[in-house]
Amino acid sequence: MSDSVQISEESVAKATDAALEAVSGAATVSELKAVRTAHAGEGSPLAKLNATLRDVAPENKAAAGKLVGQARARITEAIGTREAQLAEVEEQARLAQETVDVTAVASRWTEGARHPLALLMERISDIFVGMGWEVAEGPELEHEWFNFDALNTDGDHPARTMQDTLFVEPEGSQLVLRSQTSPVQIRSLLDRELPVYVVAPGKVFRRDELDVTHLPAFHQVEGIAIDKGLTMAHLRGTLEHFARLMFGDEAKIRLRPNFFPFTEPSAEMDVWQPNAKGGARWIEWGGCGMVNHNVLRAAGVDPEVYQGFAFGMGIERTLMFRNELKDMRDMIEGDIRFSQQFGMVV
Ligand code: DAH
Repeated sequence: MSDSVQISEESVAKATDAALEAVSGAATVSELKAVRTAHAGEGSPLAKLNATLRDVAPENKAAAGKLVGQARARITEAIGTREAQLAEVEEQARLAQETVDVTAVASRWTEGARHPLALLMERISDIFVGMGWEVAEGPELEHEWFNFDALNTDGDHPARTMQDTLFVEPEGSQLVLRSQTSPVQIRSLLDRELPVYVVAPGKVFRRDELDVTHLPAFHQVEGIAIDKGLTMAHLRGTLEHFARLMFGDEAKIRLRPNFFPFTEPSAEMDVWQPNAKGGARWIEWGGCGMVNHNVLRAAGVDPEVYQGFAFGMGIERTLMFRNELKDMRDMIEGDIRFSQQFGMVV
């Protein structure tokens, strides 16, 4: 029967208390959303009580309607209040998390790196030191006599023209930025007692355009061995040993006839690079030869008693083909990420 339905104050109070407790227990906006669905949504206890209103006896309807309506209003209000509180708390937490301290001192870029060129020169020096050779240095600002004349490179040689060499003012100073490390051969012979076994890595300069395979300032390593009875076989053996330590046990070298003023005979040296990315290959590595007797005489060495060999190669070029680099200019950008690729960050 319709008038048998009763909405007791007790049942409304119970549903209301449960709802208010759930509202104040919600710890986040999203938890509160679930509370709203459970206690104020269509299936909530109060919504169900509300639905029974139509079956309440007419004389009780107004009071029951008021009871339920007030309860529902209280709950809606409580949810609204709680929602505002929680939204505020969450906003504050987000702001706190995103706070930027504009007065903080910026962290310094403390990372540094050994440059792969420096490491390669060290490695090469170490290989020769391991064979009992000495490491030598010479000046980058060099006298023409050391850079050319003493190396049997006469005044007509194309290397001496303005196209190749950087001459230093004033005109006639006879100073150049050395175009090769070969002058260290002469300096080493003049500085030392014979026999001489010297390796000399260092910087050289040429009037080259900066491009993918050229730098106007680059590095070479020079080697010279002068002793009694040295032959081309010693040259070959030394360079092949060097090649194996640089490129692995499968590496070997080959010599092709060439010309350099400071060596006779002279050769171009190719290295067999066994583990190149695109497959094993021969690649041009440097120049070498038996030291020209005129060079020995210029350095005060008697070619009838002492002979020897010399070689020289570019460090950038070596790094480039050894590590499959595409662009030589990357080596001089000073971008630490370049050195990082070689694992050389310190
Ligand atoms: N100085 C030569 C150059 O810059 C490289 C070179 C070739 C050095 C033959 C040598 C040598 O010692 O014997 O191209």
